[in-house]
Amino acid sequence: AKIRRYKWEVKYEYKSPDCVKKLVITINGRTPGPTIVAEQNDTIIVELKNRLLTENVAIHWHGIRQIGTPWFDGTEGVTQCPILPGETFTYEFVVDRPGTYLYHAHYGMQREAGLYGSIRVSSKEPEPFAYDYDKSIILNDWYHKSTYEQAAGLSSVPFQWVGEPQSLLLNGKGRFNCSLLTTPSTNVASVCNATNPECSPYTLIVIPWKNLPGHNMTVVEADGHYVEPFVVQNLFIYSGETYSVLIKTDQDPSRNYWATTNVVSRNATTPPGLAIINYYPNHFRRSPPTNPPPGPLWNDIAPRYNQSQAIKARKGFIVPPAPTADRMIVFLNTQNTVNGQYRWSVNNVSFNLPHTPYLIALKDNLLHAFDQTPPPNGYDFKNYNIYNVATNTNATTSSGIYRLQFNSTVDIILQNANTMTVNNTETHPWHLHGHDFWVLGYGEGKFDMYNDPKKFNLINPIMKNTVPVHQYGWTAFRFQADNPGAWAFHCHIESHFYMGMGVVFAEGIERLGELPSAIKGCVRR
Ligand code: C2O
Ligand code: CU
Repeated sequence: AKIRRYKWEVKYEYKSPDCVKKLVITINGRTPGPTIVAEQNDTIIVELKNRLLTENVAIHWHGIRQIGTPWFDGTEGVTQCPILPGETFTYEFVVDRPGTYLYHAHYGMQREAGLYGSIRVSSKEPEPFAYDYDKSIILNDWYHKSTYEQAAGLSSVPFQWVGEPQSLLLNGKGRFNCSLLTTPSTNVASVCNATNPECSPYTLIVIPWKNLPGHNMTVVEADGHYVEPFVVQNLFIYSGETYSVLIKTDQDPSRNYWATTNVVSRNATTPPGLAIINYYPNHFRRSPPTNPPPGPLWNDIAPRYNQSQAIKARKGFIVPPAPTADRMIVFLNTQNTVNGQYRWSVNNVSFNLPHTPYLIALKDNLLHAFDQTPPPNGYDFKNYNIYNVATNTNATTSSGIYRLQFNSTVDIILQNANTMTVNNTETHPWHLHGHDFWVLGYGEGKFDMYNDPKKFNLINPIMKNTVPVHQYGWTAFRFQADNPGAWAFHCHIESHFYMGMGVVFAEGIERLGELPSAIKGCVRR
């Protein structure tokens, strides 16, 4: 295995990812940041210099379990103190499993400012499928308001929602229609410039193969695990998920094609994100002669359930789950107000990050650092109607955590419900740090504690690190609490986590050796 060293400088710069000029956070001058390309079992060393002048930073390696290095998970408030302006912090961890992953800021809402990128880990073993070459595409929502304006709106009374993103970026590129720009009303051209090469559509150059109808995608990997191949025309992908798909370049080779991304699961006004699939040797900027295909309907939930249910572990690569669990925790996802502020909560508790990171507080027994009362294991199943507008007048904020028995098997049920708006429910992609979990099932309506576990897939469940809970539905998964550390588990929609939609698990802290002093900068002795 190799050691791969990176030197990164993080700073603010003016960029125009969707033709609109704004301050973005770059790594070595780029957003998305450089792709980490490695082979299984390599050691990644990232020397990160914070040149943000007035802002802290921390970077999370999403999908990398950090076995034996929980202090390099990069989750500010959970596994480390923030990296202060001017400071350099060195992350060092092993990428133990092949797959496609990502990295992103885990401090405030900085991910939305452009601080993210891809991680690709190739396999030492031959893969169970063949292809000629590979490309990675990272998708992102793009807002014109700064993260500060967004965050301030989310925590003000009255509440100001961030709204829908202005653009959808593919590999950091999008195209906003400059004529829609209303502020500033003068000198729009200096702010939005459609001829700026920074916002030319992302182009994927391919070599035509053979002429057959249909560009289908065959899904072969999800979150670093091989899946039993299945074919889709549209791939539903939720924030924090990664997929590998095979595409045959088998269409008419005399032209280019559109690839598009759309917002699903909300009735959004955001225009589709577009990329060009360039059939070489056509010119790579040549617009395809047909209109971009429309996306699936935002309120059509069936195909989303179908895709979730279609994903199974690939034969020959099945890791069976423990047959039973030691503990089950049910998380009711609701919206609440706490002291007039709009918040998201699980089991009526809205999450607040403490000042002292949990990992340090737990290891050094700093009991004053966070609420010692554990949050609830469930909600009032009998009486709570998930289709009613959430009132939950007894909602609270807390920094309490779930302490798990080391190496116990834990079942998590995510239960979705109505928000504070009549007939409204949202999709939440939940991401677990430090572990992969087996996805045991999805269902509509309220999870039935007696009957639904009988339908769990214990035969060939896929392992993932991020999973959606669909509208008014539930999602069940199982994991082994076998990675000593403190681990965030939260909705991956940046503004939802900011509004309290998360929890923290801790296990096996007593097995950890001395913590590196570099993570402890914010802890007073
Ligand atoms: Cu990709 Cu805690 O997040
Ligand atoms: Cu959410």
